[in-house]
Amino acid sequence: MMLISRNQEKLDDVARSLEDQYKVETRTIAVDFGISDIYGTIEEGLVGLEIGVLVNNVGVSYPYPEYYLQIAELDKFITNMINVNITSVCQMTRLVLPRMAERSKGVVLNISSASGMYPLPLLTLYSSTKAFVDFFSRGLQEEYRRQGIIIQSVLPFFVATKMTRIRKPTLDKPTPERYVAAELSTVGLQGQTNGYFPHAVMGWLTTKLVPCNVVILYGGRMNRLQRTGYLKRKKLREQRNGNSVKND
Ligand SMILES: NC(=O)c1ccc[n+]([C@@H]2O[C@H](COP(=O)([O-])OP(=O)(O)OC[C@H]3O[C@@H](n4cnc5c(N)ncnc54)[C@H](OP(=O)(O)O)[C@@H]3O)[C@@H](O)[C@H]2O)c1
Repeated sequence: MMLISRNQEKLDDVARSLEDQYKVETRTIAVDFGISDIYGTIEEGLVGLEIGVLVNNVGVSYPYPEYYLQIAELDKFITNMINVNITSVCQMTRLVLPRMAERSKGVVLNISSASGMYPLPLLTLYSSTKAFVDFFSRGLQEEYRRQGIIIQSVLPFFVATKMTRIRKPTLDKPTPERYVAAELSTVGLQGQTNGYFPHAVMGWLTTKLVPCNVVILYGGRMNRLQRTGYLKRKKLREQRNGNSVKND
């Protein structure tokens, strides 16, 4: 098992728990996918390893839904999001796919998002990067299918993770464990999948039943409400902090 992420301490923790639980040798590479010249380091770390399954999971979203021009430090935000969400998928595939093609065997799971199925206003850049991942995966699947390689585009709706800050999992917002168990049962059966039955129903409703323009309109409205709530809570927190500094 090779884990690649940015924080060595977290990587060590996960590596240790995987080794304890599954008795599998686990190595790590600590790199920041927000930077584009890391792929030499990753290539060196992969030398001599036969990668059977590549999971392109790394991703970043917005801290809260926001109008494009009002995103803080927009220039840096764009570069980081494109490097993490798009460049990582293309470059990791470039590094791993050649040996899979030689062996005529391998699986690549690209984690897109349901927000890549249609434009999502106020999360526009995120939604667009995920649409890229979906297109890239489906195109590549057709290129390499005959060589026995599976490339799957995975498009989850909400999952209760650090990214979504959902603390209480529900049927439609499952734990990562529940989502992944369901998702893995679709590998080899579906090239493009929402990965989990309740998400598949939501995917069907929002693409087949409701016109795309209505989904975009509703998504924009939902995100505007979330933005307002987030900014209100932020203002209250700042006022409270200001008051406590005054009282001190
Ligand atoms: N959760 C959802 O509802 C949902 C829905 C649809 C799609 N997705 C997609 O699923 C994937 C996993 O998301 P998640 O919800 O598990 O998110 P998450 O909890 O935020 O995990 C993302 C992982 O990526 C790492 N990471 C972030 N930026 C990085 C960088 N610049 N360099 C290296 N590593 C970096 C994070 O490391 P740190 O721990 O150091 O931050 C973390 O391990 C993403 O591609 C996301 O877009 C998620």
